[in-house]
Amino acid sequence: MMLRLEGVDQYYGESQALWDLSLEVPTGSCTCLMGRNGVGKTTTLKCIMGLLPIARGEIRFGDRLLSRESAESRARGGIGYVPQGRDVFPLLTVDENLRTGLSVNGGARGRRAYERALDLFPVLRDMLRRRGGDLSGGQQQQLAVARALILEPSLLILDEPTEGIQPNIVQEIGDTIMRLNREMKMTVLLVEQKLPLARRVADRFTILDKGRAVAGGPMNGLDDEVVRQFLTV
Ligand SMILES: Nc1ncnc2c1ncn2[C@@H]1O[C@H](COP(=O)(O)OP(=O)(O)O)[C@@H](O)[C@H]1O
Ligand SMILES: [Mg+2]
Repeated sequence: MMLRLEGVDQYYGESQALWDLSLEVPTGSCTCLMGRNGVGKTTTLKCIMGLLPIARGEIRFGDRLLSRESAESRARGGIGYVPQGRDVFPLLTVDENLRTGLSVNGGARGRRAYERALDLFPVLRDMLRRRGGDLSGGQQQQLAVARALILEPSLLILDEPTEGIQPNIVQEIGDTIMRLNREMKMTVLLVEQKLPLARRVADRFTILDKGRAVAGGPMNGLDDEVVRQFLTV
């Protein structure tokens, strides 16, 4: 098992956002975390990355007890995170945006990872001197993924990468996620609300509702009744 959450509770002040949440991301899988707006998907990812404290429960990454490690150690130690809204530095160039990832993976290894990330997104290679803020939404999303890949993660976490992206680019982002997962053997935890895309790229799902896991399993077992009850289509 690549990643396992067990019995996680999380609070914003007095308000409980996650309730006894358990979640498994098997090694090699593309697992989709699903659910309507406000159910706790982003909160879950931030707990995994150590950006929010948890009140109870455990988070394990391989044989490491992640919930004891700092956010920095989690990011350095094999988990790539592309936050919701992409988070590209608008005034830095594409090259500079990518190099912010290199600061934690320096030297020859970092340079190879930098080249590999550009090989995966050739469009970025032609735009190295452009400012992040001047790219289209889809290009910014590619840049955000490329930057996460420079740390050579074994687990890649993506929070709604197709939100607000033109339909024709949505397919491209889906293709990229499938390539990372199937060809490059990267384990993926994806938050995605577009059901057809989720069905295409992911092989497992977990659905959250009001901070609780309410359904999960192999993607081909996601039935219409569960979709009607818990998802927006
Ligand atoms: N910084 C915050 N402070 C207080 N409540 C928050 C904060 N961020 C999110 N929440 C609340 O936590 C719940 C889950 O939010 P979130 O994890 O962002 O949901 P999702 O990503 O599934 O849309 C929501 O009710 C939201 O209003
Ligand atoms: Mg969210």
